[in-house]
Amino acid sequence: MRYSWMVACEVMRLCPPNPGAFREAIKDFTYSGFTIPKGRKTHWTPYSTHKDPQYFPDPEKFDPSRFKGSGPVPYTFVPFGGGPRMCPGKEYARVLVLVVMHNLVTNFRWKKTIPDEKIIYNPFPVLVSGLPIRTEPHA
Ligand code: HEM
Repeated sequence: MRYSWMVACEVMRLCPPNPGAFREAIKDFTYSGFTIPKGRKTHWTPYSTHKDPQYFPDPEKFDPSRFKGSGPVPYTFVPFGGGPRMCPGKEYARVLVLVVMHNLVTNFRWKKTIPDEKIIYNPFPVLVSGLPIRTEPHA
């Protein structure tokens, strides 16, 4: 299911399910010309690299082939975070996503009942009406 996971990764690149997390500086440091004092709360977000053309050329284009081979530069694709506090549910989430995709694709044809349904951020991205679809089993 390598290609299915590449598709899922491209979806999470364009629309990260988690908008980031907070970190507390444990000592003073300087980053990109800014001095961050010890104790200051910082926020990291996948949006700062997921759409950076330096790492993802033509960033608005849906292109699962970006994840071929060794994939993006480390710490540029971070839907599950990175480092010691990286999401511990990552592998479980991967299995769930792949099982849902596999069963949906192999058993059904489907159509969105609201073709241009909007996505809102609360702060997680959600479809306003819950993505209603009409399914039909493959003949
Ligand atoms: C597509 C699904 C998921 C995404 C995109 C996601 C994303 C994330 C992100 C970005 C973080 C913050 C990482 C950081 O601070 O560096 C996180 C933390 C966490 N996630 Fe997930 N997650 C997913 C599914 C899950 C699942 C299924 C579980 C549990 C079964 C889980 C459990 C956790 C826990 C416990 C943390 C806190 C880890 C810590 O602070 O040490 N996540 N997740």
